[in-house]
Amino acid sequence: MKNYENVVVFNHPLIRHKIAILRDEKTSMKEFRELVEEITTLMTYESLKDGVQTTEIEVKTPLETCKQMVVSDNSIAIIPILRAGLGMVNGIHVLFPSARVGHIGMYRNEETLMPETYYCKLPDGIEDKLVMVVDPMLATGGSACDAVQLLKDKGCKYIKFMAIIAAPEGLSKLAETHPDIDIYVSTLDRGLNENGYILPGLGDAGDRLFGTK
Ligand code: PRP
Ligand code: URA
Repeated sequence: MKNYENVVVFNHPLIRHKIAILRDEKTSMKEFRELVEEITTLMTYESLKDGVQTTEIEVKTPLETCKQMVVSDNSIAIIPILRAGLGMVNGIHVLFPSARVGHIGMYRNEETLMPETYYCKLPDGIEDKLVMVVDPMLATGGSACDAVQLLKDKGCKYIKFMAIIAAPEGLSKLAETHPDIDIYVSTLDRGLNENGYILPGLGDAGDRLFGTK
């Protein structure tokens, strides 16, 4: 696959280890949910090393007063793409408990594989926040591209997208359609099957998170 300046593929050994368990069809729903959260926290730590708004405050230690930088209050929004993106929200909240959460509801039409939007509720003032769009699976890229476009149409200027597993087709599509956003994926898989599922992938992330199949 071509190299894109706006794409980071982590391939970190600790994340790879957790993804191996996540893929396993024998992994329970509870463990699957916990792993999605843990991987998201590891990805967030790395992907937010730039672009976060900070504020200088004064801190009094037992010895003296010093100036310190802290993350600005109310400056981050998490936008999960429903349903499966919901599984990633707590993984970011662990690091930024005050992050606001907006929801974009999308499902893929099973025949055309085109995304259909059925819900959108975003936090007030989102246009000035750093927006973290999250979805564990980036397959054809249709859902991610439409979600990012919807947020741009609402005035968002600072957007990062995080997926745990990506297919080359979806990653290229998102990177080329939205070259102005930062994209982070934990691992890049081989491709898609005829039903638009990622191979080897992990199956249907929503079903495995919520036990619907
Ligand atoms: C899955 C996944 C993404 C989308 C990825 O959701 O969570 O949102 O498919 O596919 P794409 O890159 O080809 O658009 P799905 O539509 O299955 O809905 P669900 O989360 O409600 O199960
Ligand atoms: N959505 C999923 O949940 N899994 C895939 O492999 C592709 C899309």
